[in-house]
Amino acid sequence: MVYKLFFLLLVISSVYAADHEVYRNCSRVDLCSQNRELERQERYKVILEGAVFAQEWQASGYKPQTAVKTVQIEETNSSRYHINDALDGEPTVVNFDDVQLSLTSAEIYLGNNKAVVNVSPFSITFYTDDVLTVVVEGDRLTLQKEELHTPFTFGVSFPQALHLYGLHEHADHLALQTTAPGGVDPYRVKTIDLNNYELYSTMAMYGAIPVIYGHGFNSTSGLFLHNAAELWVEITNNEVGADAFFMADSGALDLFIFLGPSPVDVVRQYTSLTGVAHLPPIWTLGYHQCRWGYADQQDVQTVIAEMDANDFPIDAIWLDIQHTQEMKFFTWNSENFSDPVSMLQNLSSTNRYLVVLSDCHFKKQEGYFVYDESLANDYFMKNLDGTVYEDEGWPGPSSWMDYLNPEAQEYYSSLYLYENWNDTTPTLGGVWNDMNEGATFNFTNERTFPYDVYHYGGVSNRDIHNMYGLLQVKATHKGLIDRDNGTLRPFILTRAHFAGSQRYAAFWTGDNTAQFGFISISFSMCLNANLLGTVFCGADIGGFFDEPTEELLQRFFQAGAWLPFFREHSNLGSERREPYVFSEEVQGPIRDAMKMRYEHLPVWYTLFYEHTRTGDPVIRPLLYHYPDDSDVFEIDDQLILGRDILVKAVDEAGVESVRMYFPGGEDLMWYSAYLDDTFYPGTGWIDVPVTIDRIPVYYRQGGIVPTKVPEASTTAMKDGFYVLTCVLDNNHTATGTLYVDDTLSFEYKDSQKYSYLSLEALEYDVVLSPIDDSEDEDFDIFVGVIVTITFDDDGKPVKRIYTHDVDGVPLVEKKFQGKEPLVIKLK
Ligand code: GLC
Repeated sequence: MVYKLFFLLLVISSVYAADHEVYRNCSRVDLCSQNRELERQERYKVILEGAVFAQEWQASGYKPQTAVKTVQIEETNSSRYHINDALDGEPTVVNFDDVQLSLTSAEIYLGNNKAVVNVSPFSITFYTDDVLTVVVEGDRLTLQKEELHTPFTFGVSFPQALHLYGLHEHADHLALQTTAPGGVDPYRVKTIDLNNYELYSTMAMYGAIPVIYGHGFNSTSGLFLHNAAELWVEITNNEVGADAFFMADSGALDLFIFLGPSPVDVVRQYTSLTGVAHLPPIWTLGYHQCRWGYADQQDVQTVIAEMDANDFPIDAIWLDIQHTQEMKFFTWNSENFSDPVSMLQNLSSTNRYLVVLSDCHFKKQEGYFVYDESLANDYFMKNLDGTVYEDEGWPGPSSWMDYLNPEAQEYYSSLYLYENWNDTTPTLGGVWNDMNEGATFNFTNERTFPYDVYHYGGVSNRDIHNMYGLLQVKATHKGLIDRDNGTLRPFILTRAHFAGSQRYAAFWTGDNTAQFGFISISFSMCLNANLLGTVFCGADIGGFFDEPTEELLQRFFQAGAWLPFFREHSNLGSERREPYVFSEEVQGPIRDAMKMRYEHLPVWYTLFYEHTRTGDPVIRPLLYHYPDDSDVFEIDDQLILGRDILVKAVDEAGVESVRMYFPGGEDLMWYSAYLDDTFYPGTGWIDVPVTIDRIPVYYRQGGIVPTKVPEASTTAMKDGFYVLTCVLDNNHTATGTLYVDDTLSFEYKDSQKYSYLSLEALEYDVVLSPIDDSEDEDFDIFVGVIVTITFDDDGKPVKRIYTHDVDGVPLVEKKFQGKEPLVIKLK
């Protein structure tokens, strides 16, 4: 009996942990083990005599001041591989103000920034307003040459930083932990299908964004290593100042340095280089129902009908690999999906969309058109001897599309056309590109491509491994644009991602587990991604592996409703967990969380629009808006949606209160988003009571939050009126913004067809006015209800709800139209 129990425990604990035999730690990877303890010493000298400084300060697209600088260090006659596709076009080059050369240094000036190249010991130091913010160290610089590749190392320090952030993707805290020798492994940055990933680990995962930011009081700076090879990065956090030691497997030492000086600045500097997401079609911001297991078209219909019958809003249902014939992508399973067109028509008649999975590997089978055509045209990746690379994918032996080949990319895009993908219609509104890390079922090689496979032009996978997924989604994106002649905004969900992927796709945090810790890690991971421009992020609600308890599922829904991408998903063979399968008692809080999401769609949509203009994150860690409050620098289980909505994830079972941080100081109130008159001042940590019904969500005093009445889908809500909730500050004012367009097309971009309004409340006047005065605003806006919250002399909140203006005219009869500001007088 005792033995049996012991055995059982062993099994349970080993199932939900990554297999450390398969996934290598630092000691099993030469790049890391051989370089990690590299001695600091001078290996290179700078010869300034005759030096020419290329005028390479890079201007940021959104901000006229320059704050991005490139550094490239290479051997003479180097054959290092330089990547393309991550940057959003060529950065603008501007002239230096001045360059001063001496025997020991070169000083380069531009605006309030200065860079100094020190000859001996070699280093490059960067200053903003005379404050030293970034140092590229010469004493850990190595450029190595081995038989098949060219590793390099370098150190960088951030003298002002109290914490470092970035190096996505890891299931770790937002603030990077010290890994210095003797501690945990360095952060590994390599796209890998990390099965059963563990919490608070530095192991490599699906995404790889080689960007790091340092943040301290009054100073934020950062760097982007423009390189797609495997990296290991050792982090050392000192009392003041932090440093990172990069070990790169291959490619070029090509750096962009961001000089901030605020978190907002560094994020904009990075996104100005690698681009922003275009606006998602609004239905993708609604709820997505997925499971690996919707195996026939009847199931699709039933799930939608049940969601409707049980009053759960939903916009899309998803099909996993089972919709295909024998896992052959771009085909339908002829038995279970015998009539996809009727299925799509049914969905469209309820205003819902379908998203289907499409992987990058193709079954090795003669007669399968994608395989035959790709083989005939030489579109697959190769082995060193020129034969086609084969490995195990979902369908068994498979080959992988070589997206580096422009013709293969073009061909792959064309597969998405209606004429090539049979029985598809615009209701198939989105595509899910999975397994695109280079995932395989080859366990001897960490379930991913080996390095000795080759892409177009003989490029080794070593040089571009981390951007394979980016290349795939780029092609998918083009395919979907072409499919609808550029009229509809594509939606793609990707698992692998790299710098620049944000321009094409949303991503999710992969195969998580049904445990409470995976709720808060989804906040941390998505916040990190949002700081790195990759804003459209979510996690499998409920946990992909294992079965959630009812409470866990409720808490997951409540937290997930505040992440940009909102989808329930679960593993094959898991128990059904669509919200309607539970008792009414369990359904209630889930339904409320979903409705809260739909209610706040105007906020989400406005923020996604603002992201296209500025590169700003949609969800933000507290440090983004409170950069001088060091108490918030490590908070990552709370987020701020935009500027005004503070959310705390509840990630423990059975709790009656949670400790939550309210920022901003004693004069700033945070008022309950449930409008129940609870509020807290921004004075720091407070124990907030919670029930199972809801998680803590608070509106910032001084903000106006636009919402709508939730309906069964985003389409049903399209013409609904707006509700403006104004939490007035101590001067009786509040401000906000609201963006409206046709929700689906590119006309907002191509012909500036949209309305973008500033919202202002002053005492009893609420004013809607256009922000861009160059254009007529195109969409009429009705405000049906205005809620004002003020605080009386005793500090008690007073809530007033208005449906009519001071003259008794119903608010819905007053609309914002054209160019003229709409002034609503409430008293
Ligand atoms: C991968 C994906 C998961 C999907 C499964 C089957 O594990 O991460 O979401 O359900 O493959 O396609």
